[in-house]
Amino acid sequence: MRGLDKTFPGTTALRNVDWELRAGEIHALCGGNGSGKSTLIKILSGIYKGSAGGTIRIADAEVAADEINPKWSHEAGVRVVHQDLGLFPDMTVAENLSLGRGFEKSRISGISWRKVEVRVRELLERFEIEASPATLLSSLSPAVRTEVAIARALQDQGDQHRGTLIIDEATAALPLHEAQALFASLRRFAARGQSVVFVSHRLDEVLSLCDRVSVLRDGDMQGTWDTASIDEAALIRLVVGKDLEQVRRDARPSTQGPSALKVSEMDVGPVSGVSFEVARGEILGIAGLLGSGRSELLRGIFGDLEPRRGAVEVDGQPIRVRRPADAMSAGIALIPEDRAVAAAFADQSLSMNISAAVLRRYWRRLRMRPRSMARDARALVGQFGIKAARVDQAIDTLSGGNQQKAILARWLQRDPRVILLDEPTQGVDVGARAEIYRLIGERVAAGAGAVLVASDFEELASFADRVLVLRDGCIQAEVPCAEITPHRLSQLVYSGGESHVAVH
Ligand SMILES: Nc1ncnc2c1ncn2[C@@H]1O[C@H](COP(=O)(O)OP(=O)(O)OP(=O)(O)O)[C@@H](O)[C@H]1O
Ligand SMILES: [Mg+2]
Repeated sequence: MRGLDKTFPGTTALRNVDWELRAGEIHALCGGNGSGKSTLIKILSGIYKGSAGGTIRIADAEVAADEINPKWSHEAGVRVVHQDLGLFPDMTVAENLSLGRGFEKSRISGISWRKVEVRVRELLERFEIEASPATLLSSLSPAVRTEVAIARALQDQGDQHRGTLIIDEATAALPLHEAQALFASLRRFAARGQSVVFVSHRLDEVLSLCDRVSVLRDGDMQGTWDTASIDEAALIRLVVGKDLEQVRRDARPSTQGPSALKVSEMDVGPVSGVSFEVARGEILGIAGLLGSGRSELLRGIFGDLEPRRGAVEVDGQPIRVRRPADAMSAGIALIPEDRAVAAAFADQSLSMNISAAVLRRYWRRLRMRPRSMARDARALVGQFGIKAARVDQAIDTLSGGNQQKAILARWLQRDPRVILLDEPTQGVDVGARAEIYRLIGERVAAGAGAVLVASDFEELASFADRVLVLRDGCIQAEVPCAEITPHRLSQLVYSGGESHVAVH
């Protein structure tokens, strides 16, 4: 790409960007939230046009940036796997690998399932995916799901095809262990001449898995480095623009002081008989794989899922939660995992989205007071470092990470007594991650209790005072502060740990 520019009303997303991707390399694209990564990828795949003057060349084909379109990119071999993967969890692997492409037909009875199965088996073999065509997608591990999404994106390319595979944050939820398995398959594609662009905020992962890394900051390309020649501190400096203070909470003995949250004998979703307590001032971590019941547990406490059994106390008072409104009035906040879908009103303004949890504040005598809402929203935008041109901008025009910060701002401004966090920093850049934990830390230091679900064991190790390991809906182990290391957590989560671990 040469001289690429892209502006949106009020924002310059890319400024005179030159960028080169080599055939057969795995190239990481890094940068803070709103720095222009997704915009660059959307231009490369023809979804957006760049400004006149820029050019894009892929192998022997060249196109002006303001003339690029999806068809040109597709023919030039560009394929994108987006963060949400675009798969259907309730359908089988075979169905997922056929939708959009078309099913094989038989002359008499419509779809020929035999032919579909033959093709899908070949595909699974070619991409070395351990799944069978009839398996439901939802029963696969996240890494294998990502492999299925990649296979779907690449299925119409021949084995020797030199294409460009772009993965925009699709590994955000994968623990390092699973990301490594996925990278083994990316390596195989790269060895056959496929070029891979990998967008990620996990800089340690980028350095251990990719060949080169490019960094965007506020729309400016900072440069490209061999990952062998750069360390994490230097990469953070390039992304954030300054040195980042290590945010790590001081380890404290846990479950001292009065209880902020008490959950007794809860059954909800796959969770059964789970009891625990969180003290005021404590961050309780929950480690567990997808499907372990970790999200359902939080949703059960919040009244978003109805528990079959169980009792909840906040600050020592029993509360009855039948729906989220009950939990909210008891001082519980939930920052859900799937923020884009579950938490944001996509076509509404940023200010409306930030205020959604406290809307009642802005009603006076049956009239809405948008001006004071906007004023408060602007203050929160500043406090949370949300990058937006204006507060009346629709939230879906913000970059992914900035949408996330807006949802967090929405909930924290209520000064909750209990903060339930489901993957709070997924898709958030390193600078913002530190900022988010600082803000959560402030609320906790002021006497709130927090429950933190995170796939990133580093993150649990840095911020949790105590960790419960959840497997198959039950608490398998409790890890005290001094013993929380990423290695220990991954042992417990994957293997169930050894017998000397205290089991509650
Ligand atoms: N459709 C749009 N309308 C207005 N502004 C937009 C639009 N799409 C992107 N932007 C703006 O362009 C800038 C770059 O956004 P982009 O999505 O490329 O960031 P990103 O690097 O992918 O960030 P993240 O890590 O948060 O996903 C942001 O300031 C964003 O608000
Ligand atoms: Mg993005």
